[in-house]
Amino acid sequence: MSRILITSAIPYINGIKHLGNLVGSQLPADLFARYMRARGNEVLFLCATDEHGTPAELAAAKADMPVAEYCSQMHRVQARIAAGFRLSFDHFGRSSSEQNHRLTQYFAGKLAENGFIEEVSEKQVYSHADGRFLPDRYIEGTCPNCGYDKARGDQCENCTKQLDPTDLIDPRSAISGSTDLEVRETKHLYLRQSALKGDLDGWIDSKVDWPVLTTSIAKKWLHDGDGLRDRGITRDLNWGIPVKKGEEEWPGMEGKVFYVWFDAPIEYIACAAEWAEAQGLEEADWWRWWRTDSGAEDVRYVQFMGKDNVPFHTLSFPATIMGSQEPWKLVDYIKSFNYLNYDGGQFSTSQGRGVFMDQALEILPADYWRWWLLSNAPETSDSEFTWEKFQAGVNKDLADVLGNFVSRVTKFCRSKFGEAVPAGGEMTPEGLKLVEELDARLKAYTAHMEAIEVRKAAAELRAIWAAGNEFLQGAAPWTSFKTDPDRAAADIRLALNLIRVYAVISAPFLPDASATLLEAMRTDATDWPEDMASAVQILPAEHGFVVPDTLFAKIGDEDRADWAERFSGIRS
Ligand code: 2FM
Ligand code: ZN
Repeated sequence: MSRILITSAIPYINGIKHLGNLVGSQLPADLFARYMRARGNEVLFLCATDEHGTPAELAAAKADMPVAEYCSQMHRVQARIAAGFRLSFDHFGRSSSEQNHRLTQYFAGKLAENGFIEEVSEKQVYSHADGRFLPDRYIEGTCPNCGYDKARGDQCENCTKQLDPTDLIDPRSAISGSTDLEVRETKHLYLRQSALKGDLDGWIDSKVDWPVLTTSIAKKWLHDGDGLRDRGITRDLNWGIPVKKGEEEWPGMEGKVFYVWFDAPIEYIACAAEWAEAQGLEEADWWRWWRTDSGAEDVRYVQFMGKDNVPFHTLSFPATIMGSQEPWKLVDYIKSFNYLNYDGGQFSTSQGRGVFMDQALEILPADYWRWWLLSNAPETSDSEFTWEKFQAGVNKDLADVLGNFVSRVTKFCRSKFGEAVPAGGEMTPEGLKLVEELDARLKAYTAHMEAIEVRKAAAELRAIWAAGNEFLQGAAPWTSFKTDPDRAAADIRLALNLIRVYAVISAPFLPDASATLLEAMRTDATDWPEDMASAVQILPAEHGFVVPDTLFAKIGDEDRADWAERFSGIRS
C-alpha cells in the first residue's frame, strides 16, 4: 500500500466552470484518486476554490455583493456541482481560509529570511476618491494610439496596443469614474525566482518520466527570453491575504495583499490543514502528507492541471517551496492537459460560450459526461466537443456496448433460469479464450491507469466491455439453451460474473453505474481483480441478482439537435 497525495488545480471562484475546465484538472484527478483508492492505497485528494485577485473582486461587484459573501456563496455552489459530478475530494477547501492566510504569510516570512524577497519601489496610480491604488486594469482613458476612449491601463482593447496607465489621455478610475488621480511611489515585494533558476533547472531535468507537455512548457519558461523574471507577489487590492512576515507586520506593506498566484498554490498545503481540522485531526496528521521530515518522504504527490497553469506549478510554486529551505514536499508528477474546444471554437467563461457544469447536469447524469470527457481527454493535443461526437460516444460505448451487455445477460437469465446465477455445465473453450483475452486487457488497462494515460485506459476499458458482447453474440445462449441448457448456463454464469467485474473496474470512470450494477448483482465484492480467471468465479451458482433498470438511455437525434441549439449562443 502506498500513500498518494493528489491535487487538482483550484478553480477560480468567479462563476461556474465549463466542461473544458473540468476535463483539464478535476475530472482526471478524480479518476486517478478513485483508481488509487480501489487499488487499496491511502489517498488524500484535495481541491479548493481560488478566491483572491481582481476577477473575484469584479465578479462580486457585478453581483452587487460584498466579496467575502460572494465567495462563500460561490464556494457552496461549486461544491454542490462537484458533488453532482461525483468528484470525490477528501476536502474541498478555500484559498481564503484562515489556514491559508497563516501559511502564505509564513512562507513569505521564510522567503524573506532566506534572502529571496526583494522590496521594489514602483510608481503607481492612486485614486483619492476610491482611497486606494488602482491596478492597471482599473484605470480607463483615451488611447494615445487610436483615440478609443475606453482603453484600459494595461492595453487598448480597440487597437490592442500594450499600455502603461500613464500613457492614457484623461485617465479615470474604472471603479468610481473619478479623475482625481495621482502617481505615487509605492513598494512591492518581488520573489527572486531567478536566484533559484539552477535548482529549478536541475529539478525539472530529473523528471524524466513527466509528460512532454509539462516539461516542454517548463523548459520554455526557464530558457526563453525573460521567462524566469523575478515576480511581483504583492498587490494593492482590498481583498486578499494581508502582506505579513509570518505573524509580524511588514513595514511599508500596510494595506497590501499577496498576489493571487502566490497564495493559490499554497492552498494545496493549507487545504490539508483544513481537511485535518474538519476531521478533528492534529497537525501531525496533515504534516505526514506535506513535510518530508514528518512522514511525507513516502508520499507520491501528483498534480493535475491545464497547460496554462504549468508555469506556475513547475517554476513559481516550487521556487516558493525551495526558497523556504524547509522540508515541504515538492510535486512528484505533473499531469497536464491541452484544451477541449467547443464546436469549432473555444469554451470561454468570460464570453459564456460552451456547456457549463451546472447545465450539463441538468441535461444528463454525471456518468454520461464523465465517460465522454475522459475518453476524449485532450491529452496529446487539443480535442473537440461537438454534440454529434457526444451523442455517438455515449450511444455506442455506454448504451450499445456496456448497457446492452448487462441488459441482455440479466434479462435472458431471468427468463430461462430465474434471478440467480445458474448452475451446471463447464466453461467452454470460447469462454476460456475470452478470459485469457480479458486478462491481457485488464493488465493493459491497469498499466494505463497507473501511468495516468486517460484515453488509452478508456479505450482498453471499452475493449473489455466489447469483448464480453462479442462472446455473448458468438455463444448465443438463446439458441444453445434449446439443445444444450448446461452450456447456456455456463456461458451465462460467466457473463453474470463479468457484469460484476465490469462494475468494479469501471468504477473510476462510471461511479454511479458501477454502484447500480453492484447492487443489482447483490454483491459487495469490490476488490480490484488480480487476474480474470479468479475474478469470474466470485459469484457462485445460486447467487441471487436482480435485473437493473436501463443503465444508459440513448441520446436521440431530437435531443441532440435541441441541445446544440440551446448551447449555440452565449450564456447570460
Ligand atoms: O486557472 C485557474 O483556474 C487557477 N485558479 C488555478 C490555480 S491552481 C493553483 F495554483 F492553486
Ligand atoms: Zn487604441
